[in-house]
Amino acid sequence: MQYEGMSQDELVNRIKEKLDRPVMLVGMMGAGKSHVGRQLAAELGVDFIDTDKVIEEKAGASIPEIFARDGEARFREAEKNTILELVETEPAIIATGGGVVMNEDSFQTMLQNTVVIWLKADLDTLVLRTAKNKNRPLLREENPEKILGDLLAAREPFYSKSHIAVDSSEECAARATQEAIKSLYAYLNHDNLSSL
Ligand code: S3P
Repeated sequence: MQYEGMSQDELVNRIKEKLDRPVMLVGMMGAGKSHVGRQLAAELGVDFIDTDKVIEEKAGASIPEIFARDGEARFREAEKNTILELVETEPAIIATGGGVVMNEDSFQTMLQNTVVIWLKADLDTLVLRTAKNKNRPLLREENPEKILGDLLAAREPFYSKSHIAVDSSEECAARATQEAIKSLYAYLNHDNLSSL
């Protein structure tokens, strides 16, 4: 890929020169945070971290088990603590759970200390992508489409505060990954990073 006359390697090197903090991916369940996040981390040669996996490891239980055993409020508390720890890490790509932006402490800390990318997908895409996976306790109800629609409406005003938005509706995750790389380069190149 070429961007502003640069090869992919040059683009990646420029990003790595400037990037002094983690990049956090936000967006709805099914937006492709893990998929695109893994590809982005591989392209940039940095670690990929998934906050849900970190929470599961700490709890010794899966997300559905945590919801069933401890309730959503305890999960949100664990999620906030995990975010507060992870914003301090070296540059890495960090995928977050879809609801993270609803906690003001977590989201403000992310906005101040990391580069936040919103992976944006339309409702039909989210419904299709989440239909097969039964690991999401919030969607184990009668009408997942309505739940996703309501959550999207409630969360969109928060997601839209992210530093960068990337359309991830298309089936091809590689395209969203390339868009994220270009947008990240443009963002860093305009010296948007506030000093920590
Ligand atoms: C949630 C999203 C899930 C997970 C939990 C709650 C949400 O993560 O954190 O089931 O509130 O949207 P993904 O967005 O990775 O599916």
